[in-house]
Amino acid sequence: MRRRWTTAPAAALAAALAASGCGGGTGGGGDAAQVEVFSWWTGGGEEAGLNALIEMYEERHPDTEFVNAAVAGGSGTNAQAVLEGRLQSQDPPDSFQGHAGAELQDYIEAGYLEPLDGFYDEHGLREALPDQLLEQISYDGSVYSVPVNIHRSNVLWFNPSVLEEAGIEEPPQTLDDLIAGLEAVEEETDAVPMAVGAQWTVDHLLESVLLGSLGTEGYNALWEPGADWGTPEVAAALADFEAVLEHTQEESASEDWQEASRRVAEGEAAFTVMGDWAAGYFDELGMTAGEDYDWAASPGTEGTYLWLSDSFTLPVGAPNPEAADAWLELAASREGQDAFNPLKGSIPAREDADPEQYADSPYLSAALEEWQSGPELAGSFWHGVAADNRWKNAIDTAVGLYLQDGDTDALQDALNEASQAAQTE
Ligand code: BGC
Repeated sequence: MRRRWTTAPAAALAAALAASGCGGGTGGGGDAAQVEVFSWWTGGGEEAGLNALIEMYEERHPDTEFVNAAVAGGSGTNAQAVLEGRLQSQDPPDSFQGHAGAELQDYIEAGYLEPLDGFYDEHGLREALPDQLLEQISYDGSVYSVPVNIHRSNVLWFNPSVLEEAGIEEPPQTLDDLIAGLEAVEEETDAVPMAVGAQWTVDHLLESVLLGSLGTEGYNALWEPGADWGTPEVAAALADFEAVLEHTQEESASEDWQEASRRVAEGEAAFTVMGDWAAGYFDELGMTAGEDYDWAASPGTEGTYLWLSDSFTLPVGAPNPEAADAWLELAASREGQDAFNPLKGSIPAREDADPEQYADSPYLSAALEEWQSGPELAGSFWHGVAADNRWKNAIDTAVGLYLQDGDTDALQDALNEASQAAQTE
């Protein structure tokens, strides 16, 4: 395809981008009639949210071809490796999905991202987004991404009928309740007590167990410089983790989060701990909240939002910075966020979103209300807030070994080493 700028000549564009602080000076050579957006939203719920945005983009920019460069694999396990390769070889997409927090800081420090200060000023975004979120996407006073949502990691999804069959009257409030509940499901029903999928879903479970066992302050302290993971408190949390994992299904490693969630909604499993993207998936499956599935904060974490946020970036050298700018404008807008999030199973990053758009979903309306009430906050480590990619990968390696050898002491040592290594990076 011939390369051309769609709405402004290149010189005018370069001047506009320079004035907006949007960068893009290193771009060029790309196809201006195209925008390539990189994410890992290919599965149930997530793809629907992305498609809603793509549709809006195509309506607003009919002359620009939207290239959906999503790479399959829950939580970006495959996508992030592909992306890193592209960034290292200076072949960036026009925009890519990156979690607010430590993960984004990695990309910024590596020099992969353009600052978006001018873009923020132009669209009044500093006023539209919560301060704690702005902090997570800023570096040296500049802002580097556009958050589209807030997700909650610490959700315990359960099947009400299976719980009833197991004689569990209320969703478990504490990890001890959960472990007792898992034993009851094991004894009284044929269902899998706790559904998990690929290894990353076990990492995901680990963060909720750490939070539930250590409390918000104790969990947040784990990510502070010099944090000691060798304590009896962490040992107790890992003992809970072990007890929970004893009640998971065996044939899970080849499945992703959708399969674990589906097992719950269809009564094959009692519980799963998964982020609230599962809410989008349940909707897509036509499941009814309160009947096919229900939810509670993961045990021991009531009142705390273990949060994460998907955000989009402008990479240095983006081939089509103007088209990327239009994508970011849509992702930042109230209309864009209110179209995307109800399908995605997340609440908007913007504080001025329309609550009506979330009213049809019992889960999302409750989540929005809780978020707006100012819950305690803890940052997800698996989804990029609390730990950078290197630290997160070291934890994943430790968890992988643990899943093979079941040695909890060795797991704790490895987690402690990962924490010490992260401090000296
Ligand atoms: C992302 C979500 C996504 C989930 C499962 C998380 O890391 O932030 O947007 O739905 O992974 O793929």
